Amino acid sequence: MLLIKNLIKRYGKFTALDNLNLEIQKGEIFGFVGPNGAGKTTTMRIISGLLKADSGVVNVDGMDAVTNPRELKSKIGYMPDFFGVYDNLKALEYMEFYASIYGITGNKAKQLCLELMDMVRLSDKADSYVDEMSRGMKQRLCLARSLVHDPELLVLDEPAAGLDPRARVEMKEIVKELHNQGKTILISSHILPELAQMCTNIGIIEKGKMVVSGTVEEILSARGTASPIIMKFTAGQDRAVEILKQNSLVRNIIIRDNSISILFKGNETEEAEILASMIQNGAMLSSFAREESNLESLFLQITAGDEQEVSE
Ligand SMILES: Nc1ncnc2c1ncn2[C@@H]1O[C@H](COP(=O)(O)OP(=O)(O)OP(=O)(O)O)[C@@H](O)[C@H]1O
Ligand SMILES: [Mg+2]
Repeated sequence: MLLIKNLIKRYGKFTALDNLNLEIQKGEIFGFVGPNGAGKTTTMRIISGLLKADSGVVNVDGMDAVTNPRELKSKIGYMPDFFGVYDNLKALEYMEFYASIYGITGNKAKQLCLELMDMVRLSDKADSYVDEMSRGMKQRLCLARSLVHDPELLVLDEPAAGLDPRARVEMKEIVKELHNQGKTILISSHILPELAQMCTNIGIIEKGKMVVSGTVEEILSARGTASPIIMKFTAGQDRAVEILKQNSLVRNIIIRDNSISILFKGNETEEAEILASMIQNGAMLSSFAREESNLESLFLQITAGDEQEVSE
């Protein structure tokens, strides 16, 4: 669906994208992760045709971005990382304005815009002034706006930035819904655990280069890192530690007051076996679960700079 090869973008003497490579297959949700200034927005603006690269290939559905800019724009829906002023427009008028840019007008436009507003949970805001809407609502409206021409590829630049936890969950649900409708999605974010849950693939960018990309599992195993398992005990913790120490699949046992964290290299069956053996030996567990936020620590390890090696 999207192929980026050796993309280079300079702002004056500064190289923002340094031979960036990125590939997204149809139907993927690709999480684009990187620290501030890594080049995410620059990449997304180039994909969406708003910014010109110095060199490299951007190909959407087999079409080159440089030679087919119009066709490309019809396939891509772009949601920018910040929005402008709305000049006293009501939400529905704003949507209809964007529809008109794509030649959709009249009743057809109204119906389409209402449908899209419904999809982003704004159906009751058609007559609200955009300037008076909350940040979360504006962000959802902006997402709806990027959908008016029914694009195949959605490019979402930090759609959940600045939203409260509840609004973030809502945004995530909408993105998932769009994925279920068959959209291919490129989404950037700083909120890594959230991306891990939602995305099929992850690419980590640093200083204009793609440092790693692949499925979340691929990235984790390639780096030799597994999510730690956290256990909480109400009794029998000492005995459980003895059992864990004897198991060759267990590494890095970290003991806290009422919990233990381990790195476990086994599969699910082996995980179940070790849990059973602790219980059989008198340990009382109130919890035994994989830590969800491991992508966060992976991200920190990868982007920590050259001096820090990822240790197993
Ligand atoms: N118009 C511009 N002129 C000069 N430098 C720019 C311009 N736009 C971006 N840059 C620089 O290019 C680099 C990449 O910026 P970009 O906005 O793509 O990063 P980002 O990954 O989106 O960061 P963030 O997470 O903060 O949104 C940064 O160092 C930034 O300062
Ligand atoms: Mg950005």
